[in-house]
Amino acid sequence: MKNIESSLKESRTYKPNPKFASNSNVTKKQLDDLHKNYQNDSEQFWKDLAINEIKWIKQFETCCSGVAPYYKWFEDGELNVTENCLDRFIGRSKNAIIHISETNDKNIITYDELFVLVNNFSWALQNLGLKKGDRVIIYMPTIPESIIAVLSCARLGLIHSVVFAGFSSESLANRINDCEAKAIITVDGFKRNGKLIQAKKTVDDALALGCKSVLKCIIFKHNGNRIAFNHSQDIWWDEILPNKDKIVCPEKMSSEDLLFILYTSGSTGKPKGIIHSTAGYLLNCIITNKWVFDLKEEDIFWCTADIGWITGHSYVIYGPLATGSTILIYDGAPTYPKPDRFWRIIQDNKVTIFYTAPTAIRTLMKLGENLPDNFNLESLRLLGTVGEPINPKAWVWYQTKIGNSACPIVDTWWQTETGANMIAPLPGVTETIPGTCTQALPGIDALIVDEKGNEINKANQGGYLVIRKPWPSMLRGIWGDKKRYQETYWSKFKNKYYVTGDTARKDKYGNIWIMGRADDVVNISGHRLGTMEIESAIVSHDFVAESAVVSYKHEIKGEAIHAFVTLKDGYSEVNKKELAEKLREWVKTKIGSIAKPDKISFSNALPKTRSGKIMRRLLRNIARGEAISSDTSTLENEDILKQLQNIL
Ligand code: WT7
Repeated sequence: MKNIESSLKESRTYKPNPKFASNSNVTKKQLDDLHKNYQNDSEQFWKDLAINEIKWIKQFETCCSGVAPYYKWFEDGELNVTENCLDRFIGRSKNAIIHISETNDKNIITYDELFVLVNNFSWALQNLGLKKGDRVIIYMPTIPESIIAVLSCARLGLIHSVVFAGFSSESLANRINDCEAKAIITVDGFKRNGKLIQAKKTVDDALALGCKSVLKCIIFKHNGNRIAFNHSQDIWWDEILPNKDKIVCPEKMSSEDLLFILYTSGSTGKPKGIIHSTAGYLLNCIITNKWVFDLKEEDIFWCTADIGWITGHSYVIYGPLATGSTILIYDGAPTYPKPDRFWRIIQDNKVTIFYTAPTAIRTLMKLGENLPDNFNLESLRLLGTVGEPINPKAWVWYQTKIGNSACPIVDTWWQTETGANMIAPLPGVTETIPGTCTQALPGIDALIVDEKGNEINKANQGGYLVIRKPWPSMLRGIWGDKKRYQETYWSKFKNKYYVTGDTARKDKYGNIWIMGRADDVVNISGHRLGTMEIESAIVSHDFVAESAVVSYKHEIKGEAIHAFVTLKDGYSEVNKKELAEKLREWVKTKIGSIAKPDKISFSNALPKTRSGKIMRRLLRNIARGEAISSDTSTLENEDILKQLQNIL
């Protein structure tokens, strides 16, 4: 392959592929009209979409009500999300889920079958006494049963909170306790990279930490490994199902009833439970699947996200199913047994739309730049990325090698909080440049502002990325923490804008380029982590006195973690190399593997300002190998600088 990087300029634009454009869900004219309609009458714009796209039990009268930061959408309407995702597609013998396991077993579930499975499991949950508004934690890999569990909760109005099955028992316990979950749904175990992950054991460990609210733990027998069984609480999935198929009437949900809680990291040590409501969330999921992913009923859509993240909620489960398309799920590692696994799955299953993270693209590119050449990837017609800015080299490789130089790429910017894509190109319409997520979708009023909140219109001048007008799928708050909700997202500009926490700039064409976070949040392999969260995990180790965590640029992960650590008195003689390894394992047990620090430095003290604040800029300079830009004259001991630079 010729060296594409050398011929690459940031300004190289990619025009929409005419063949794609001739059949895309949204044409240039329609996109212009959508933007115009929104500008003319934003209420009418959302009203029309909500009426057309959602199957209502009772249609709404009021469109948007309330004032910042508390908005309500379609408040007096009633619906059930599962009627939208299942009931309206039954009787068509259409595939809903194609599941590929790590060991390459294939399981296809039609909409009719999924409807039956969800109804039966809903019946079982109902039978256990769970009621609308109760919280249920789902701690499972991305398999059909976890989707069944999610949808069954939605059918009954139980508020689900999916916890990524890579999180540790402590992270799990914190989430269970924060939302006071009544039940947990899990599996005995599952395989990743051929290794057994004992999910039920992690649940047991979490419960042993004290989770008083939990009454039942439902276990789906997935792997067949032995588990400890607590008869007063544990029950097998199979044993609670009805003997004969049951139909469960979908709970009438008000538009504003909560659909789910999803925990995500913020700039304090404690993850926040982002809450999403029913109708508004569903609406943005549906329209973005249609507009950005050009989703049609005949598509096979593979979004590689785990259902433990928002992408798994909106682009594996709710959006694609409410659009009546077929989703493919794979619950194994991208490199198992070899780094060609993704390409093989696309070929064998004729995937038409593929959505993944830049970090996965970079990993697979590094492990086998030419491996895709061995596969027939012609079924693909659209590619997507999410989670972090994609570097031009990976973008171009993705386009040429995976997309056969023909597939449009949609670089989608959004967040757990926004519920669905906010800034993204429309394939077939928008000209793209590698590295920009282009422009806000119709209905999304995104702008870049300066410290005072004034809009920046000058090209390439960076500022805060904010959203001015409310949109249906916006978060409704943080579970149990109004104050934090207001402070994190609204107070900076006195409720005038929703503050995304990202910084960005606009180029001369009006394309938005995400520059990074403005807060203490880092993005490791597309996963969001708070530096404070990692610091508190490290500090909870017996030997550790203090810690500061910063990120640096990483070729594969995008960002990686450098932890600066000072030890308590009496521990200065311990073997630092061994301790660094121990601390990595410690962080793994406290949070999960994704939070393990890549680099650790030990020093006698952390550099501080006169007022006692840790000099984070200095630490960032060191972690990033940059020239030191801070005044170091206040450091008590110049030797500390040397220690900080000694990286393990
Ligand atoms: C943060 C949100 C939304 C699903 C995945 C992550 C970063 C997300 C992009 C993109 C540049 C992006 C932002 C954002 N981000 N997509 N296309 N280009 N950066 O969800 O964990 O809620 O993280 O991910 O920094 O704020 P999340």
